[in-house]
Amino acid sequence: EKGGWSSFMAKEVSEEPEAVANTLRGRIQDGAVVIPELADLDDLFTGIDRIIIIACGTASYAGQVGAYALEQWTRLPVHVELAHEFRYRDPVIDERSLVVSISQSGETMDTLMAVKYAAERGARTLSICNTQGATIPRESDAVVYTHAGPEVAVASTKAFVAQITAIYLLALHIGRVRGVLSPVEAAEHVRELEAVPGKIKRILDTEQEHTTQLAHWMADTRSVLFLGRHVGFPIALEGALKLKEISYIHAEGFAAGELKHGPIALIEAGQPVFVLVPSPRESSLLHDKVVSNIQEIRARGARVIVIAEEGDAAVLPFADEVLRIPLAGPLFEPLLAVVPLHIFAMGLATAKGLDVDQPRNLAKSVTVE
Ligand code: M6R
Repeated sequence: EKGGWSSFMAKEVSEEPEAVANTLRGRIQDGAVVIPELADLDDLFTGIDRIIIIACGTASYAGQVGAYALEQWTRLPVHVELAHEFRYRDPVIDERSLVVSISQSGETMDTLMAVKYAAERGARTLSICNTQGATIPRESDAVVYTHAGPEVAVASTKAFVAQITAIYLLALHIGRVRGVLSPVEAAEHVRELEAVPGKIKRILDTEQEHTTQLAHWMADTRSVLFLGRHVGFPIALEGALKLKEISYIHAEGFAAGELKHGPIALIEAGQPVFVLVPSPRESSLLHDKVVSNIQEIRARGARVIVIAEEGDAAVLPFADEVLRIPLAGPLFEPLLAVVPLHIFAMGLATAKGLDVDQPRNLAKSVTVE
């Protein structure tokens, strides 16, 4: 079933473009988002006053990315929470709350229990799931399936980009139903989404070799840090999780602005740090802040690996390595920037001779709390 691939993970990373394309398929008509599953739910979407996203692990990072778009396009307050923390703090939810769960398997016990808890409290529930007929969608009022295809490797990759795609579709749908987004604005975002598969493909074509080579050079590294701001922050967390999970290396993701509040003390000569650099085109403020973070860590000896937009020359004087992603709107960059991080984690685990698909101590679907 692996085809010619060395691992399921390698196959699944190569399928990231299709995972996005298939999740979009049949849900866009003349530039507008049309989600057949949600056709009769306008009252639900106009009747809510907040959205809470619950998930675990990689799915929770997809939720964190999705929250930026949901908030921006629906102007509803959005809060993201780890499913296993959610029900232990008496959350403020009622029938005007929409609880969106995200789960590849649809069987994660922590997430399922959180969905049940939300429903008992009267909240409306919607699940984003990759597995037809799984328990979580069955327990939810509505479901938007991701169409990433079966994901076998324990490390979630293609499901992650499909989850972000599905939340973006949901956000555009709710934004339109609530009259926050105009048809023209929504169509612009749809165009960006439709361009994502081709852009991921380009990264796989142009950056795979360099990123894998980098991972091989770093096979003896004991710790890797990841920095990002805004939507780059959850991507930093995802990059770190993937590395821990399959290459057993200490890795941590930070919000870049948090550096001087503690983590910069970790920086010493040779410490590898991945930095996700936002596009300078939309927000030079955000971009310049990240570039100055890079200067701060570089001055302390960090080995800086930058993920930056094609053509961004400002990073060059301060970067030891540059991985390029195609131009995209700020909210669409995470769908691209995560790809080199998936390739890197896979490359490093492979360089260490580890079983990429089946890391120690982990199961594909966590069906106990
Ligand atoms: O099936 P789910 O999406 O609910 O799984 C959630 C997490 O267990 C999962 O994303 C986990 O963090 C991955 N192994 C990360 O690669």
